[in-house]
Amino acid sequence: MPSTAAAADKVPRPLDRVVMESLPPPVPTLAECVTLMEQYGMLPNIRHHSLVVARLAEQLWAGLCAFAPERPRTDRTLVIAGALLHDIAKTPCMVNNGDHARIGGEICREHGFAEIAAIVEEHVILRNFEPDRYQLGYFSAGEIVYYADKRVRHNVVVHLNQRLEYILDHYGKNNPVRHQLIRENFKKCLTLEHYLFQWLPYGPSDLGAF
Ligand SMILES: [Fe+2]
Repeated sequence: MPSTAAAADKVPRPLDRVVMESLPPPVPTLAECVTLMEQYGMLPNIRHHSLVVARLAEQLWAGLCAFAPERPRTDRTLVIAGALLHDIAKTPCMVNNGDHARIGGEICREHGFAEIAAIVEEHVILRNFEPDRYQLGYFSAGEIVYYADKRVRHNVVVHLNQRLEYILDHYGKNNPVRHQLIRENFKKCLTLEHYLFQWLPYGPSDLGAF
């Protein structure tokens, strides 16, 4: 008598499911990003912030492509959609004090956007901090969005140190442990910036200027 699991293995799966599983996970279109922003009640100021982050992220992506065109680059639509949706859970989390990166990831997964979920989850703290890879000029969509987000305070492009001041003020809550964690995260961001701009045809001050 075959086991139930072995018998289930022999049941042919519908062709559409086989095809879907062999394709890369979908990336939301711009229209789908806007629909999600509306569905999750994104406040206008957070939407504005996200649009500026998306603009910077796209500028970084284009600069990396122009500087070393022979290198395989992460997908442009992934970078833009990840930036647009990185704060998708920010508005609901303002009410329930939740972790907006984790909850934002859950929202994106629920909608079938697994790659975007991973970007959203690491936009506050990078999952893999790998300076050796950065030195070789390889940056993921998540790292591009993480860096772009650190350069935008509200809807204004600022330098990393200016953003650090705001984050310490806003999220540090006069707690030395929190301050230490925030500073350590920023040190990583400074390292990422250092290597990123070795692979770009412009400097950190030029970001957002054109
Ligand atoms: Fe943000």
